[in-house]
Amino acid sequence: MTSGPGIRPRRLRTTEAFRRLVAETRIHPAQLVLPVFVREGISEPVEIASMPGVQQHSLESLRSVIADAAAAGIGGVMLFGVPETKDAVGCGATEEDGILNVATRIAAREAGDALVVQTDLCLDEFTDHGHCGVLDASGRVDNDATLERYREMAIAQAESGSQLLGLSGMMDGQVAAVREALDGRGFTDTAVLAYSAKYASAFYGPFRDAVDSSLQGDRKTYQQNPANRREGLREALLDVAEGADVVMVKPALSYLDVLADVATASPIPVWAYQVSGEYAMIEAAAAQGWIDRERAIEESVVSILRAGADTVLTYWALELARSIR
Ligand code: PBG
Repeated sequence: MTSGPGIRPRRLRTTEAFRRLVAETRIHPAQLVLPVFVREGISEPVEIASMPGVQQHSLESLRSVIADAAAAGIGGVMLFGVPETKDAVGCGATEEDGILNVATRIAAREAGDALVVQTDLCLDEFTDHGHCGVLDASGRVDNDATLERYREMAIAQAESGSQLLGLSGMMDGQVAAVREALDGRGFTDTAVLAYSAKYASAFYGPFRDAVDSSLQGDRKTYQQNPANRREGLREALLDVAEGADVVMVKPALSYLDVLADVATASPIPVWAYQVSGEYAMIEAAAAQGWIDRERAIEESVVSILRAGADTVLTYWALELARSIR
C-alpha cells in the first residue's frame, strides 16, 4: 500500500553482485592520502600509543613508507615533522635542515611521479608553546605576524619539493598570503590545500601525542566552534576566493553536514581529514572486540565520500588501498 504497486527497493539488494552493481560510492586508492609523521633524531620507527598501528618515522623508514604508498597506488602523502627542539617562533619550520624540510626532500625524491608529496604548513609542531602561530606581547596568537612566518614556511617547503601545501593553522588570510609569497618567488605550480573548515575538536587528541605537542590550553580563538555549520561554508568560500586549489573539512565523521554543504558549493576539489581520534576510536573498540574493525573502517570512509569528499586523508590509506586491490 504505502510503496505502491510492485515497488520493492529490496529487489536491488538481493545478491552481493546486485548490491555491488548499484553502489553509489566506491573507494579508489587514488582518492586516499596517508598522513606521515617524521621525527628528528630517531633511527627506528616509534609506535604512537594512542594510535595503534601508526608510527613516528625515521628518515630511513620514511623511504619505505613512500615506496609502500606508491606500490599501493594511493594519491599521496601528507608529511608532518616532529622536531627535537622548539622555540617561540618555530625556527625549525623554515630552516633548510629542519626535519620537515629534510623529510620533504627525501619523500619528493623517492616518490618521483608516483605520488603527490604534501606538507603540513603550520607552526604548532615547531613552537614551544604549541600554538599554530606566533604570540603577541600579551600571549595571544598574532594573526598577521603568523602570516609572515607562513610565507617563509611556504617558500621553504616549495624549495624542498612539496607539491601541495596543507595550510592547517586557521589564520585569517593565510591562503592569500601564501599564494602571493609562492608566486613572488616563481613557485606558481606549487598548489595550496586549505584546511578551510577546521574545528576546535577533541578528536585531535591522539595527533598531539603523535607530534609531541607542547600545547597548554586550546585553539578556540582560531579553530571553529563545533556548533557552527554556516561558518564552515563561509570559511571554504573565503579560501576559494583567496586562491586555494583544494579546500578541506576537518574532522570528517562529526562534520558530514559541513562537508556536504562545502561539496555542493565548491568549484574546486573538496577533501576531508579523518583525524587521529576517529582512527583511535575505531581501533580501540575493535581491540575490545566490540565492533568489526574492517567493516567499521570501510563504512566510515565510504560515508565521508558519500557526503561529498573527493579525497580522504586517513591513517588507514595503505591498508584500505591494499584491501581494495
Ligand atoms: C595542526 C594539525 C592538527 C592536525 C592536523 N594538523 C592538530 C591540531 O589542530 O591541533 C590533527 C590531525 C589529526 O588529529 O589526525 N598542524
